[in-house]
Parts: sequence; structure tokens; C-alpha cells
Amino acid sequence: MAGKATITDVAARQVLDSRGNPTLAVRVWLSDGVTAEAYAPSGASTGTREAVELRDRDMAVFRGKGVLKAVAMAKGAVRSRLLGMEARHLAAVDAVLAELDQGPEPVGANTTTATSLAVARAAAESEHLPFYKFLGGGASVPHFCPCPSLMCSTGGAHAKDGTDFQEYMFVPVGATSFAQALRMGAECFHALRDVLAGRGLPTSQGDEGGFAPPLAHNEDALELLCRAVEQAGYACGEDVAFALDPAASELWRDGAYHLEREGVTYSSAQMVDLWERWIGSYPIVSLEDGMAEQDWDGWRQLTERLGSRVQLVGDDIFVTNPTIFQEGVDKGIANALLVKVNQIGTLSETLQAMQIARRASYGLVISHRSGETEDTSIADLAVGTAAGQIKSGAPSRSERVAKYNRLLAIEEELGAEASFSRPFLAVAPAQA
Ligand code: PGA
Ligand code: ZN
Repeated sequence: MAGKATITDVAARQVLDSRGNPTLAVRVWLSDGVTAEAYAPSGASTGTREAVELRDRDMAVFRGKGVLKAVAMAKGAVRSRLLGMEARHLAAVDAVLAELDQGPEPVGANTTTATSLAVARAAAESEHLPFYKFLGGGASVPHFCPCPSLMCSTGGAHAKDGTDFQEYMFVPVGATSFAQALRMGAECFHALRDVLAGRGLPTSQGDEGGFAPPLAHNEDALELLCRAVEQAGYACGEDVAFALDPAASELWRDGAYHLEREGVTYSSAQMVDLWERWIGSYPIVSLEDGMAEQDWDGWRQLTERLGSRVQLVGDDIFVTNPTIFQEGVDKGIANALLVKVNQIGTLSETLQAMQIARRASYGLVISHRSGETEDTSIADLAVGTAAGQIKSGAPSRSERVAKYNRLLAIEEELGAEASFSRPFLAVAPAQA
């Protein structure tokens, strides 16, 4: 019976995410008695072509963000179509979910995401496999634990008082294990708090746990990051480098980039110039959404100018959508894919997008959302698919740390079977 278990029940309920907004928990039961649950995360700086969440829109309740309609969809249309299906045939399950979300009454990407993950988790359990091994299709050793990018300073849509740019991250490029990388990132994070406090700057935290200092210039954050790395006793660039996600789509209006905190407006070419200058001055190894999702021409210029020097990650522009991403690959845009299951809505479609990235030799960064829960599926996804990189926010706040702690457990469980991914080893980052 093991491995052939069929779905016998699907249930759902409304829970809260890390921002205090409702989200969906879905639980499935299988014929062999196994049960598993998963939660849908939720973004704030979302791409316009992302799969759409189903929300109640009753402004009197949870400011319109309730998900009781999605709960009803999971218990109704989704449940009745999935009953009797084999959980291990995830592609078939996900095809049904995708179809239900395309129908006249879409069930919502929050519903499909939580259901897809819950079914996959149950299938793994049913086959007595850790989730990461199930996701890896029983792939042989070694298993790669991902290199983390740890959020440290934030702004944009995730912290209105902070910088124009959304995310500044520490990348422990010198680490040789995930545990060491996490330690280095956490130590730099604490040092950054001291650096900020020492300059009389606030140490309040944004949605993903990063500090949100109200700096006059976006570049000032990089200087603070350098000081923090040094203060933590590491060499800036050699031990710890930086990754950025300015979330440039949020700055794009009327064909230009508006950096309101600095009071400047940049054309696409000027934006590329800014990134080139920063990459030449600071140890930046990765730049996500350096250009807006609407600015494909700007993205092309960015890739031509900087694609051989730095990882250029597409988030809003590709939205983990295999069709859109393939178009980007064909046009030579970016050199890495940000992977968010709920942007496309099912695990199978996510794996399909990742397959395209592998064929095109693009890098892969598994990502949380700014609205998160205690669900740790993305940690297993990163190891199971040997993606090589993960970003799950600051080493602070339980919904962020839950993923990192899961990776610590996986690394320990794997023991000698674990290899640590060092994607930036070959890069010689600029010294600040
Ligand atoms: P989001 O942001 O989850 O709010 O969309 C994360 C990101 O832009 O990477
Ligand atoms: Zn992003």
C-alpha cells in the first residue's frame, strides 16, 4: 500500500500570516492514514503577472483580506476533484489544481499552493521519505544545502520608513557549511544592530526582520553593512558579500525609476549605471529585480552590461511562470531565477520553471514571501532540488528562522551526505 495511497479527505482553515493577515492552511488525509498540512505565504511587492490569491474583499472583516472563500473552495471544489487521486502523482494533482484555478470560479493561488504542498508532504510521508528526498525524486548523494542570503537592511514596500530599495542581504560566501553560514549571517546581523545604534539610528525591523533605518541615501546602507561585517570579525567580500533586491518594479512609474527618499528620477540607462557603479565599489554578488518587470529593454541592457560579473535574479519579471521565464531566457534576460511556489500556484509548475533554468544554466534562488508562516517547505525544496541558494529573510523572527532551522536539521540529518553549495566561490567581489 505504501506509496500508492489515495487522497481521502481535504480540509482547510483560515490562519494568520506574519503580517497579521489571514492566509490558508490546508490539510490532506490519505488512505494509509497519513495526514499532512501546508500553509500559503503571501507577497506585498507582488509581480503583476503572478497567480492571483482568492480573498474575501469584505472590507468590514480583516480589511478585506479574509480567505474564507478560499477555505470553502478547498473544502468544496478542490476536495471533490482530488478525492481518490494518488498523492504521489503530484503532476496529475497539480494539473487539476491549475485547471480549477483557470475555471470560471478560480479557486485562488493561495488555495492551490497550500493544497499542492500539503499533498506533496503527505506523499513523502506515505513513502517514508524526508520531504527533501521525496522532492529530489530519490536522487542520489550528495545533497546540496543552499547558501543563504540573509536579509539585514530593508525598505520599499516592506518598511515604509527605510530605504527606497527593498532588500540588502548578507551572503556568507566564505562559509563551508550551512550551519556556519547561518552563524556568520546572524553575527553580522547583530553587529549591524550595534552599528546602527552607535550612530543613533533606529533598529526597528521590517516585514522580513531586516532593520529599516531611515537613511538619506540608499548607498549609505552598503557602507553600514561593510562596517557590520568588519565589526563581526569577518573580511568584507571574502567571508561575507552582499546581495540586493531593490524590487525596482515598485519604483517604476511613467517609464522611469523614482527614488523618492533621495528625490531623484532615473532612466533605465541611469539605473544600469547606478548598479554598475555599486557593483564596482562594493562586494555585491547578486542583484535581484535591479530593473522593473515592465522594463524588458532595461533588463536586457542590465544583463548585457553586468551579466558576466554578477548574478542577476529575475523575480517580478518571471514570477516563476515557465512560459514567461522561457521568453526571458530566449531574450537573454537575467542569469538566475527567483523561485516562489505561490507566484505560479503549484509545486509541479515551479519544478517546471526550475527545469528551464537548469537547461539554460541559470542560477536558482528559492525564496520565502514577505508574508510568511511557520511552514518550512521551501527549506526542503531548496535541498531536494539542489537549487544552491535560498533567501528566507533575516536571522530573526520565527517565520523566517523556521526555514533556516529546518535546514540546520536537514544538514545534521544528512551528515556526510551533505555538501554545502558555494555558488559565489569563483567570484572575486569588489572590496569596499
Ligand atoms: P514579496 O517580496 O514577498 O513582498 O513579493 C519578496 C521579494 O520581492 O523578493
Ligand atoms: Zn524580489
